[in-house]
Amino acid sequence: MAPQIIANTLKGLDVIRERSRGLVSFVESYRKFTHLPKPEKISFPMLPFLEKIRILVSSEPDFETTQFRIEVQPEEMHLIADEKLISQVVINLVRNALQSLDARSNARIVLKACFDANGHPVVEVIDNGPGIPIELQEQIFIPFFTTRENGTGIGLSLSKQIMRLHGGSLRVNSRPGFTCFRMEF
Ligand SMILES: Nc1ncnc2c1ncn2[C@@H]1O[C@H](COP(=O)(O)OP(=O)(O)O)[C@@H](O)[C@H]1O
Ligand SMILES: [Mg+2]
Repeated sequence: MAPQIIANTLKGLDVIRERSRGLVSFVESYRKFTHLPKPEKISFPMLPFLEKIRILVSSEPDFETTQFRIEVQPEEMHLIADEKLISQVVINLVRNALQSLDARSNARIVLKACFDANGHPVVEVIDNGPGIPIELQEQIFIPFFTTRENGTGIGLSLSKQIMRLHGGSLRVNSRPGFTCFRMEF
């Protein structure tokens, strides 16, 4: 066989291998949707919970260059929810925030927990990154929607689904320099 044909075939095989890896992680992400467990709700204190999240994300790239603040009001606030599923949501939101901040100077993330005017628990993840264009603010919750080169577009749709399973909601409020994802229970 001509060397050129062999070379092209090898290149083709590389592309196939690359794509199939991509597909495996795509399918893996999809599987997570269909296997979402029913929430097992227990009461847990918010301050230690959010401190734990901080430790869990501290190995993420860009964490070192980001100022990270936790505000819980009242300090002894508890949440009745599935702790594992909710930590999945908050970690997703913090990862997104870190990625959008991308080591910019004065990068800041605030994790906030409080009660709204109706006494419903609220958890907010706020960053001072570039913000989300208004025309994309609905689309970002659609499964597989991503603007990132290596994104899966799973994080937000999965998070919204988890909040729905809790009888709550996940909403965004964003403009340049300010993005707030609000989890309401
Ligand atoms: N804090 C944020 N700041 C700016 N854009 C964001 C933020 N969080 C999410 N996004 C946008 O929403 C899209 C979807 O997010 P997500 O569902 O987590 O998927 P992924 O992170 O894989 O792209 C991202 O690609 C990005 O465009
Ligand atoms: Mg994400």
